[in-house]
Amino acid sequence: MLRTNSCGELRLTDAGKQVTLCGWVQRNRVMGGMTFIDLRDRYGITQLVFNSEQNKELCNEAQKLGREFVIKATGIVAERSSKNPKIPTGEIEVIVSSLEILNPSKTPPFTIEDETDGGEDLRMKFRYLDIRRNPVKKALLLRHRMAQETRCFFDQQGFIEIETPVLIKSTPEGARDFIVPSRMNPHEFYALPQSPQTFKQLLMVAGIDKYFQIVKCFRDEDLRADRQPEFTQVDCEMSFIEQEDILQVFEKYAVHLFHNVKGLKLQKFPRITFADAMRDYGNDKPDIRFGMKLKNITSVVKGKNFKVIDDAQTVLAIASEGCSEYTRKQLDELTDFVKRPQIGASGLIYVKFNTDGSIKSSVDKFYSEDDLKNWMLAAEAKPGDLILVLAGDENKIRKAASELRLEMGHRLGLRNPDVFAPLWVVDFPLLEWDEEAKRFHAMHHPFTSPLPEDIPLLDSDPGKVRANAYDMVINGVEIGGGSIRIHNRKLQQKLFSLLGFTKEQAESQFGFLMNAFEYGAPPHGGIAFGFDRLCSLFGGSDSIRDYMAFPKNNAGRDVMIDAPSAISQHQLDELNLVLKEKQY
Ligand code: AMO
Repeated sequence: MLRTNSCGELRLTDAGKQVTLCGWVQRNRVMGGMTFIDLRDRYGITQLVFNSEQNKELCNEAQKLGREFVIKATGIVAERSSKNPKIPTGEIEVIVSSLEILNPSKTPPFTIEDETDGGEDLRMKFRYLDIRRNPVKKALLLRHRMAQETRCFFDQQGFIEIETPVLIKSTPEGARDFIVPSRMNPHEFYALPQSPQTFKQLLMVAGIDKYFQIVKCFRDEDLRADRQPEFTQVDCEMSFIEQEDILQVFEKYAVHLFHNVKGLKLQKFPRITFADAMRDYGNDKPDIRFGMKLKNITSVVKGKNFKVIDDAQTVLAIASEGCSEYTRKQLDELTDFVKRPQIGASGLIYVKFNTDGSIKSSVDKFYSEDDLKNWMLAAEAKPGDLILVLAGDENKIRKAASELRLEMGHRLGLRNPDVFAPLWVVDFPLLEWDEEAKRFHAMHHPFTSPLPEDIPLLDSDPGKVRANAYDMVINGVEIGGGSIRIHNRKLQQKLFSLLGFTKEQAESQFGFLMNAFEYGAPPHGGIAFGFDRLCSLFGGSDSIRDYMAFPKNNAGRDVMIDAPSAISQHQLDELNLVLKEKQY
């Protein structure tokens, strides 16, 4: 070992000891005849002191040390005269007697401290320097702890961790595949797994009745704060179980993580159907840290010659508690918010239900006070509340109302990141109609079983069939999703045909799975949690990138290693790939 101690562990009780520390120079200050160096490593910061009266040459050498030089220093631990209560080593310093530069450093492109002057792009380009910063390092430590707790939990529950392959055949999970050309099989391609879905089902046929894996998945889809092209799932599958069993195991898993990592006790996991979630929150991943449910007031508000409302398919109201005093400016801000293209409403109607019982609205011209009182009743508002009303096409308005509800929750401070409100959303529709393609898509994936009581509807009204599928949602984030699977060849074939696959297409893409179903496939089901999302939820950030060591940017690029990048003609030839001319 080059060092006797880390930069985070020396205390007053170590005073008098000779120690050797290694690390990076965070700061170098010269004060009179003294030079002070803050030496940093993974564990903390220790102050090194060089006294020119005692050793002028050594002190001169220390003064020349630049930021991020890697050094080794030996000296005696001493009590500090001016202590720093902000850091655990703040009571001591090391009076250095020998110094070795292990490696010099160029001046880093941004300051490597908790608060940095480096912008996102620069920090990503020099991610190895960014990781030296405490907040990033802490995020990776949190991720490590959560991974360890995950392994520990599933092992204790009798699950086996099995690695599934990365070079596979395409799995249809709704996104595009990343494709890898095969040199040995000209004109053929592997796909990177969007998830290990088919493999985990095959493991159930293989008799491994409790499988889990912390696994990389790859999806070529548009990126957002909570989506990366390569991300990690805590993936699981079980045999001889029903939905209830999966929900129980994963509730226990969430409770275990919150308890062991955050010291928090999760109380309840309410369950809500997809239909109720859409009705009450306009959203299949509701944030239930606060109420303000959407109220459909369509039947109460029509017929007063106000065109916007009379022409609307749906009118939704949100009663915002205690907001009747909102100013013109605040209401204008909300109107601008709902009119943003990504929200898509054409305007916002408000009704103030003042504490003295009087009513003031933006539609006073069309509605009497008595009419508006009926609105209040329908919106379940009380004196002091502000009612925000959106009118228009059902789907569009529900989505807009959902965003407006979240915005109000945010403005009212009801979305506290230290409060965790988990729930299960169940009974999703099995199929989703794609108007453009004029065909059904699987809402979860094609291996999801319908609810048994809805199976007859597959022939008569497939759009109405509910899936035996479930999502865990925490604070408005879809943390995980899964389903009970089809384990019968005939039913699986029927699903493929509803999804528009010909018999031949289904056979060539999924023959391996349907064949396996004919060799004694047990009833099975599972779920996968988004591990990066779980980490960012625990860490209190909206961006999963903060919890990945080397994430991609919004264009799917790794700017540090500059990937993706062109490959040589030789490689292209070997892979039998011919590139189309670039078109500008
Ligand atoms: P699903 O597609 O719902 O299910 O994915 C499971 C969970 O993975 C996370 N997730 C992502 N996280 C970061 N970036 C992404 N691009 C991304 N996409 C998904 C989400 C999501 O809830 N095979 C099924 C699971 C099953 O049925 O057992 C599956 O992958 O948190």
